[in-house]
Amino acid sequence: MTQTAEPHPNEKKESLRSYVASASPATAGLYIRSRARNLGRYLVEQGAQSLFSWIPGPIGMVARAAAYRPLLAGGSGSPFLEADVELFHMDGIRLGRSVYVDRFARLHASAARIELGAGTRVMRGAYVSSYVSNARAGEGIVTGENCWIGVDTVLSAGQGGIFIGDNVLIAAQSVVVCGNHDFAKVDLATLDQPYYGRPIRIGSNVWIGTHAVILGGVTIGDHAVIAAGGIVNADVEPYAVVGGVPARVLKRLE
Ligand SMILES: CC(C)(COP(=O)(O)OP(=O)(O)OC[C@H]1O[C@@H](n2cnc3c(N)ncnc32)[C@H](O)[C@@H]1OP(=O)(O)O)[C@@H](O)C(=O)NCCC(=O)NCCS
Repeated sequence: MTQTAEPHPNEKKESLRSYVASASPATAGLYIRSRARNLGRYLVEQGAQSLFSWIPGPIGMVARAAAYRPLLAGGSGSPFLEADVELFHMDGIRLGRSVYVDRFARLHASAARIELGAGTRVMRGAYVSSYVSNARAGEGIVTGENCWIGVDTVLSAGQGGIFIGDNVLIAAQSVVVCGNHDFAKVDLATLDQPYYGRPIRIGSNVWIGTHAVILGGVTIGDHAVIAAGGIVNADVEPYAVVGGVPARVLKRLE
């Protein structure tokens, strides 16, 4: 790799890289706004989580439901939140009645909200994020009722949006990601090129097998099945079973 004396364009970019590299009041402000609407909300939201997120078991769940609900978006029910759940931009997170979130999951909202329908379960270590630095309102993550977001699964929106129906089962370690970086400029790292997302729409009663990847711009019809390991880069018809890389129709359900 060649070295250059010119400053790299990264130095001007307001990115995670810049605020980690050079701490200053301005970069501290960027850090805070990536996690809450403003400093006041950051202190309240993270203060509440410092007090309550460590408490194990049912007592912790009751305490967190009482303490967090007023901080969540309007219309939230009482959620069941295990210990060590991380919530950022809590006022952009609406959790329907009896939503369950397991340990070490992170819900990270932004101007683009996260709305999980009643009875939805987010399993251990799942990463549900509508935070990107150029997030757009209305392009977050919305699920219907009784969905299942599996262990270590990633849902990533903020541009485009992920819109999921009812009773959708997403198995462990799957990735549903709206976004792409531009990558055509070879004098810039991909990380420093514009990021944009396209919507993903998933119907009701869909089963997404483990290690599947669903890419931006895709619509998956009701009752479709995505086989384990499938990479979906094109629309899937209702009742189709698809698999492979890229995913192709394996069979159709009656
Ligand atoms: C798709 C799946 C449901 C099997 O469905 P099935 O109706 O029993 O399908 P079959 O095993 O009869 O296979 C039908 C065809 O699909 C292929 N196929 C099955 N699973 C596949 C996969 N994951 N990727 C690619 N092709 C696959 C088979 O090789 C077969 O191809 P062929 O007709 O050329 O021989 C299953 O393979 C699968 O991927 N399950 C997901 C498991 C999972 O993630 N569990 C987590 C619990 S929530």
